[in-house]
Amino acid sequence: MDLRIKSFKEYEEKYKQSIEDPDHFWDQIAQTFQWQQAYKEVCKWNFDEPNVKWFLEGKLNITENALDRHLATRGNKTALIWEANDPNTPSQKFTYRELYERVCEFSNALKAQGIEKGDRIVLYMPMVPELAIACLASARIGAVHSVVFAGFSANAMADRINDAQAKMVITADGLNRGAKQVALKTVVDEALESCHSVEKVVVFNCLDWKVNMEEGRDVWWHDATNGMPAECKAEVMDSEDILFILYTSGSTGKPKGVVHTHGGYMVYTAFSFQNVFQYEEEDIYWCTADIGWITGHSYIVYGPLLSGATTMMFEGVPTFPDAGRFWQVCDKHQVNQFYTAPTAIRALMACGDEHVDATSLSSLKVIGTVGEPINEEAWDWYYEKVGKGNCPIVDTWWQTETGGIMISGLGSLSPMKASYAGYPLPGVQAVLLDQEGKEIEGSDIEGYLAIKNPWPSIIRTTYGDHERCRTTYFSHYKGYYFTGDGAKRDENGMFRVIGRVDDVINVSGHRFGTAEIEDAIDNHENVVESAVVGYPHEIKGQGIYAYVVCEIEPTDPDAARAEIIDIVSEQIGKIAKPEKIQFVSGLPKTRSGKIMRRILRKVAEGEPDKLGDTSTLLDPSVVDDIVQNAL
Ligand code: PRX
Repeated sequence: MDLRIKSFKEYEEKYKQSIEDPDHFWDQIAQTFQWQQAYKEVCKWNFDEPNVKWFLEGKLNITENALDRHLATRGNKTALIWEANDPNTPSQKFTYRELYERVCEFSNALKAQGIEKGDRIVLYMPMVPELAIACLASARIGAVHSVVFAGFSANAMADRINDAQAKMVITADGLNRGAKQVALKTVVDEALESCHSVEKVVVFNCLDWKVNMEEGRDVWWHDATNGMPAECKAEVMDSEDILFILYTSGSTGKPKGVVHTHGGYMVYTAFSFQNVFQYEEEDIYWCTADIGWITGHSYIVYGPLLSGATTMMFEGVPTFPDAGRFWQVCDKHQVNQFYTAPTAIRALMACGDEHVDATSLSSLKVIGTVGEPINEEAWDWYYEKVGKGNCPIVDTWWQTETGGIMISGLGSLSPMKASYAGYPLPGVQAVLLDQEGKEIEGSDIEGYLAIKNPWPSIIRTTYGDHERCRTTYFSHYKGYYFTGDGAKRDENGMFRVIGRVDDVINVSGHRFGTAEIEDAIDNHENVVESAVVGYPHEIKGQGIYAYVVCEIEPTDPDAARAEIIDIVSEQIGKIAKPEKIQFVSGLPKTRSGKIMRRILRKVAEGEPDKLGDTSTLLDPSVVDDIVQNAL
């Protein structure tokens, strides 16, 4: 079960093998898992439809591999450590046996509530162990989980519930986030007013709040699990049965449900986890992400548990009760691998060195980042202050759609370069394309990042709309999976991912489509139209800048801004609110009516002198107004 590559030379050999004979390469890895029925073929694919299948006709259950398989040898090993929001609340630990029993108990509860194989369950939960347990229980009985980050609004949740036609929602009364407590059940109640597929709501008691419980629909977690047996036979799943749907934003329309399946996702998350973090049996691993995002799915829950690791989840935020919390927790639990986001690093760096200097951090072996490009200053600080100059930084590039880490260093094995993700993992053929979709050869070049071949955890479809999957990822450049990112490759073949080349904004490592935010803003009764772009933000990586055209010029612009922010918070969630809102007389449009975002981006970036050619604009005078009143 040790899937680790142990030297850079071995990586180079394995990489070569994985490209020359991918079936053989992945077969050897997949064989180490527990299959209820052997697969007949490793991979069958085409990127035209697209139709990608891995481990065909194999039967398995991912939770047997994440839990049952470890009981004989690791039954008493800690599987999960939970660190609470409040440092005075005792942490919780679950051995593999305890976690197995809790998952089985909840699996039985789900069945008793009428959940069957194939049913969709939406989870809207705090970062408590029950969230991980609920995901695993859902997978165990063959249901499909769809976690919605608990910062999304009722509207956003309702869209996702309706798209997935979910039969159940699992939530809590509320959650702790730093000094605040945030209601969840009331948000679910509001969402369910426009969702008719949901039959049951399971409510975990996190805060001891009195909440509305609708007779016949709502049941407390502790009542649902009461008396349930701690054994539950795992459902037999096909490799290609859906494990989960995770909604993510694209450049157009509503968020899409990225679909991952049992077999391939299992193999790739375990393989990438062990290799990137160079996880060793006794290590304590901590990823600070929320399970509401793909990072939490793949590298808090599945990858680590499939590897028999000790994984930690944290309920709180990096700055509560003070900006030393991450480092104190690393010392408290003697964390060996620490994985976080550049935005958190930048925020903590801005709080001064005294917090990090007050802790030892001597247990750390590997530190990682994910979600957005990391600037050199933050990289250096992370390396020197957190890693004390002797921990490799793994800058991991990947996406919700890729399911697992695609480009990254492997612990201390790989060469390292500030702000470079490095080399692709075995099995991943990363290429750079030009505008026409031709591969750009050579070094020291820049282009569109695309992948030439399938890997086991590649997106299978966008739920309920396969055509959208094809047009978004497989139609831009025939024969390639297109990532939406731009990247550089240096003279040594190392990749640096620069950022999105489509209309997606990456705020604090979270993706938002500009269209999605514009749709929300346009709901304001006085708004005629709007255009949203990203601009460089010191902490968040990118901030949201909105240009808004009003029917009647607002007499109190600040009040109008507050109303717009309220609407975005209501439609999507507070996490998507624009940082800057500029009221403008018009938007720069071409004669065919297309908004020239390039101009808006340049103004937002504070470079109005670099607007380029504006001669094709319908009304160039709007640009003067925009430049003069830029925020
Ligand atoms: O633009 C890239 C950026 O995050 C996008 C994927 O976002 P999401 O699906 O939400 O997944 C985030 C966590 C995996 C990518 O298209 N991104 C992610 N990791 C990096 C990155 N950009 C630069 N460097 C990274 N290490």
